Amino acid sequence: MERAVVQVTLFGLLLVLASTLPNKDDWNIYSFHINSTVTSRYATTVITSRVANRMDDSKEIEFQVRIPKNAFISKFRMFIDGQWYNGVVKGKEKAQQQYTEAVSRGQSAGLVSSVGRTLEEFKTAVTVAAHKKVTFELTYEELLKRKLGKYELQIHARPMQPVKDFKVDVYINEKAGINFIDIKGGLSTNALANAITRTHADKQAWVYFYPTEDQQKTCDGCGEQGMNGDLVIVYDVNRDSSLGDIKSSAGYFVHHFAPSSLSRIPKNVVFVIDQSGSMSGRKMQQTRIALIHILNDLAEDDHFGLITFDSSIFHWKRELVQANKENLESAKTFALNINERGGEATDINAAVLEGARMLNAHPREGSASIVILLTDGDPTSGVTNLELIQSNVRRDIADKFPLYCLGFGHDVNFEFLEKMSLQNNGVARRIYEDSDADSQLKGFYDEVATPLLTDVTMIYNGGTNLTQTNFSQYYNGSEIVVAGQITDNDIETFTPQVVAISVRIVPHMTFSETNATVEYTGTDFDSHIQRVWAYLTVKQLLEKELLFSGPEKENVKKEALELSLKYSFVTPLTSMVVTKPLGENTDVLHKPKEGGTTQALPSPVGHRPLSRKGLKKRTRLQGHVVSYSPSRLADAERSGRVGV
Ligand SMILES: *[C@@H]1O[C@H](CO)[C@@H](O)[C@H](O)[C@H]1NC(C)=O
Ligand SMILES: *[C@@H]1O[C@H](CO)[C@@H](O)[C@H](O)[C@H]1NC(C)=O
Ligand SMILES: *[C@@H]1O[C@H](CO)[C@@H](O)[C@H](O)[C@H]1NC(C)=O
Ligand SMILES: *[C@@H]1O[C@H](CO)[C@@H](O)[C@H](O)[C@H]1NC(C)=O
Ligand SMILES: *[C@@H]1O[C@H](CO)[C@@H](O)[C@H](O)[C@H]1NC(C)=O
Repeated sequence: MERAVVQVTLFGLLLVLASTLPNKDDWNIYSFHINSTVTSRYATTVITSRVANRMDDSKEIEFQVRIPKNAFISKFRMFIDGQWYNGVVKGKEKAQQQYTEAVSRGQSAGLVSSVGRTLEEFKTAVTVAAHKKVTFELTYEELLKRKLGKYELQIHARPMQPVKDFKVDVYINEKAGINFIDIKGGLSTNALANAITRTHADKQAWVYFYPTEDQQKTCDGCGEQGMNGDLVIVYDVNRDSSLGDIKSSAGYFVHHFAPSSLSRIPKNVVFVIDQSGSMSGRKMQQTRIALIHILNDLAEDDHFGLITFDSSIFHWKRELVQANKENLESAKTFALNINERGGEATDINAAVLEGARMLNAHPREGSASIVILLTDGDPTSGVTNLELIQSNVRRDIADKFPLYCLGFGHDVNFEFLEKMSLQNNGVARRIYEDSDADSQLKGFYDEVATPLLTDVTMIYNGGTNLTQTNFSQYYNGSEIVVAGQITDNDIETFTPQVVAISVRIVPHMTFSETNATVEYTGTDFDSHIQRVWAYLTVKQLLEKELLFSGPEKENVKKEALELSLKYSFVTPLTSMVVTKPLGENTDVLHKPKEGGTTQALPSPVGHRPLSRKGLKKRTRLQGHVVSYSPSRLADAERSGRVGV
């Protein structure tokens, strides 16, 4: 009930509505299109929804869609009564002012929030006069990340009712050639199979998904409300040259580097596993299952170590050992017997430092070292000062190998883990408490299971304003992407080169490529390559913002803000202010920050009927403020909004 109260306050409704579900007679979504164009792994998706108010009264009509978290919204507009109303991206502080003012005028609010593991929900509304129509159009952009040998484009379709003219059009254009394409996701079922058309040429692929109204009601998980699910387009590109794929245009370039013909480098891996009381039950059991799978996958020339911890540290063996049959059997027995212990306290500092000690004590030559921390809580024993832990870990790892942090469940301080990983050339990943947590753990391990290169340095003579160029390790199935500008757009002097350590030439040699073919894509894709550069630069500046403090932090923040404004990206530093028919009415939309501190807001459902206020202003359009609740994933999970 508390949720309903919040909702009423938020939206300034005068009536407590009997039902928040859309009333089919009031309005009609007569057309819903999703159009996604992928060029060189950069996806631009446009969602267009056309809605008619069927009533003799004005109605508030809502537009509510889900987009991938990794994407930036870059455009939103509405077409009402013969006129377009465009959203404008502004710095968050400026937008906040508008938001506060609007709220003080008693205008209502909506939100953008995290939903489940990979999606964010975008929601706005506008009041539409009797028998008038509105078109909503949202554009978002994302660079697809290669994981385990494939790219995935996730399209979430949930128009909230069966729609007569429903279409998803995906067009993929990859100059390197498309190696394979596959369609997955909850909507790729037998019932809908004949609604999907796939065409695959050498460099292009098309996927059309045109389900009929009947199909939209009868598919798995669909009903009177129509479809609710994902279409996931999975593909990979061909790779011929070991230097990868470089495209340039209008003074910008993007380099995709993902050689796969290299030999694997033996690895030294230490698993640091939380076994405090909070891991009890299913979490601990899933961890054991994942560990057994991982141990089974180690190669004989790998070395490994296992540490478990709560307020004390427990070793399986004090030093790294080779992954031979005998050691693996013994390790599996140990893993099967890992149990949560009584205490809640966790000494993350001592555990990670011990992992680093084991790797430092082991000869590194010709191998790739990795430490993987799995925890579900905060450091509560030993050193508990977060900054002190971070500086200790950084000192002991000293850039010699990456630290990956897996945060299990919703009680972790994800920002702490994220910062610690980034400081040590790794990444942090959330493990969602769910029935598949063991495969999430195993899936993460698989991504780093096969190191092919270490100490990768991407060098671009004649290049400037480069995104990240140094990578501690490169794993099979992943991809290194660097973008930048070509100094004075002088292609003649632009020479890319990759220097890294591989085992191709034994032992410990340099792998280098200087013979590049840079492909010039002409003017058609001008803005495209520039936008990839901007997208990557902003993403990386936002990571740096997390790492830095003081004036350095302010500088990267300023730079990220300027680029977000220039390219019209809705990032955690900007907001989109949506202009509406009446001058003073605005919507303000923000992007949630993963792992940020926030409060949960009610999950909105459906197109809501309109408030009394709106009824009075029949022919005029009344706007409202859409604010944002940086709704933390964890909170969303707690309130049972998971797995949508
Ligand atoms: C989809 O978007 C592309 C690029 O903007 C455009 O060329 C194409 O016509 C659109 N397709 C449809 C079906 O709207
Ligand atoms: C890397 O992955 C490719 C394709 O996924 C595979 O063919 C190749 O054998 C892998 N290389 C190693 C060293 O495992
Ligand atoms: C690119 O680099 C040059 C100097 O090398 C600098 O003057 C310019 O402002 C940079 N541009 C951007 C957009 O960062
Ligand atoms: C990247 O690595 C090279 C050589 O390993 C080093 O000289 C350079 O300073 C590094 N650059 C950054 C930005 O860390
Ligand atoms: C560079 O590549 C071209 C063709 O791709 C080849 O003809 C040439 O010999 C190569 N040069 C070197 C130095 O490898």
